[in-house]
Parts: sequence; C-alpha cells; structure tokens
Amino acid sequence: MAANRRLESKEHRLNKLIPLGVDERLSHFVEVIEPRRTLEDLVLSQQNQEILAGLLHEFRHSDTLRRHALTARSKLLFCGPPGCGKTITAEILAKDLGLPLFVARLDGIISSFLGETASNLRKTFDIANTHPCVLFLDEFDALARARSDNSEHNELRRVVNSLLMMIDHFRGRGFLIAASNLEETLDSAVWRRFDEVMLFDLPKDKDIRRLLVLKTRNFKADFPIEKKTMQLRGLSYADIERICMNSIKRSILEGSRTILESEFESAVREERRRQAIRVRVKPRNPRGR
Ligand SMILES: Nc1ncnc2c1ncn2[C@@H]1O[C@H](COP(=O)(O)OP(=O)(O)OP(=O)(O)O)[C@@H](O)[C@H]1O
Ligand SMILES: [Mg+2]
Repeated sequence: MAANRRLESKEHRLNKLIPLGVDERLSHFVEVIEPRRTLEDLVLSQQNQEILAGLLHEFRHSDTLRRHALTARSKLLFCGPPGCGKTITAEILAKDLGLPLFVARLDGIISSFLGETASNLRKTFDIANTHPCVLFLDEFDALARARSDNSEHNELRRVVNSLLMMIDHFRGRGFLIAASNLEETLDSAVWRRFDEVMLFDLPKDKDIRRLLVLKTRNFKADFPIEKKTMQLRGLSYADIERICMNSIKRSILEGSRTILESEFESAVREERRRQAIRVRVKPRNPRGR
C-alpha cells in the first residue's frame, strides 16, 4: 500500500515534468526522466567545470544574446570512456536549469524498415524543438557512424545525412547532448555540428580523492580514505563508486558504523576481478561495457 503511494506520487511528479502536448505515443522515442542529482554530486576536471559554467551562464542570458542576434551554445558532444560522467552530467545540467531530461530511446528509434529510422529521429527532434528540455542522445555512434563504413548499406548514409540536418536545424529552448564512448567511429562531419565538445576522461589522482570523499560523506571510513588514491588509478568514476558502495555494505554487514579498511580492500579486490573479466571479453565486446 505504502509502496503504491510512493509509485503514484513519483508518477504524479513525472507527469508534471512531461510538458503538455508530449503525446503518449512519443514515449516510444523518448524516456522522460526527472533529474535528481545536483552539481554537488559531480566531480569534474577544472576544464569541464569551466565549460559547464560557461554553458549555464550563456543559457541563462540567452535573451541578452538574442538581442544581439547571437545564440547560446546548446549542442554538445560528450565523449570519453564508460562510467566517467557523460550521462550524469546531462542529468545535472537539466536539474540545474529546471528542465526535464529526455533520453532518446535508440531501441524505439532505430528501425530495420527503410526510411523509418530517419522519420523516427525527426519525431524525436520535433519533441525537443517544441518543448524546453535536455535531449540526450546516448550511444550516438550507433546513429552517426562514419558514412564510409563499407559494411553498412545506403540506409545508414541517409540516416547520418538526416541526422546532421536535424542537428543543424535544432532550435530547442534547452540542450541537445549527444554522447559516445566510441568517438573515433563518428562521422567526421558530425564534429563541427556541435557548439561544444567535452571529454569525460578517467579520473586523475585529485579527482579520485574528491570522489572518495564524496562517496563516503554519509558513511565515513575508519582510515584516511584519500590514501587509497594510487591504488585506484585507471578505474572509472563508476568503478570507484562501486568500490565505495560495496565496502560500505560489507562494513555494515560486519556490524560496523564506519568503513573498515579490510572491507575496502576486499571491495578493491572484487573490482579488480571484474576488470580482469572485462579485459578478457573485450575483443568480442568493443563497447567496453
Ligand atoms: N564525474 C563523476 N562524478 C561523480 N560521479 C560519477 C562521475 N562519473 C560517473 N559517476 C558515477 O558513475 C555512474 C555512471 O556514470 P555515467 O552514467 O555518467 O557514465 P557514462 O560516461 O555515461 O558511461 P557510458 O559511456 O557507459 O554511458 C553515475 O551515475 C555516477 O554515480
Ligand atoms: Mg552514459
């Protein structure tokens, strides 16, 4: 009963976020997500912090820019390895601007029927052009793969051409964000369509330290957590977050009120085991997931 109420109230909140006029059938193409996390939940490189601050500033002053016949940057390409902040940054950008996050559903958009993928994309862009939102096109490489790719037929060429046109004509009052961790496969003509390209790379030592502090803010460690930084080099933010969460769970189950160093070490070992499996299966799984 209580769970039902929770669900209802969540739906109620989401309905408020879905702008009037977004037809139910369009949920086939976009998933509306209520952004929750804030800038405080994010660890960004100095460079990305500056870019993001600049984008938010421009967006908030877009009327001033418009009076001078200028437009705020709104088309962004997020690149970089898995688990390094592309999706969470899109969510936080939406949260900061009070906009809903529309995540394009590639499974609904990409069709095996001739011409239908481009038409589905057009409908998706129509939503973002008419409703203020952050439109997030994840796994963008699946749509914008290099047109010279011989293994694909002409249909892909047509989809990429239409996609480029849609990006060019995007005039939504929000952001269009495309994300890819296979950026090297993107068609070269794609790059200049974007006002800004941001690289979300693996964390440097100081980012690892900040992430460790952030992720253990509610459940402190009984040892100086920053000293684990060097051990975590080469892992993604998502991997390190998982280590923190697993060590918290393990410590709780050991009856502790703090993170035990022995449990943190076990969680690191567990993560390394996962990584070893990932490396072994990589040749068959180029997306690295
Ligand atoms: N820079 C970051 N700061 C704080 N937390 C992060 C950061 N990057 C990732 N995380 C954590 O890891 C989770 C997964 O990251 P995210 O979904 O943003 O990765 P991604 O770059 O979109 O990866 P993929 O290419 O696999 O889609 C986030 O939900 C967040 O909890
Ligand atoms: Mg992602």
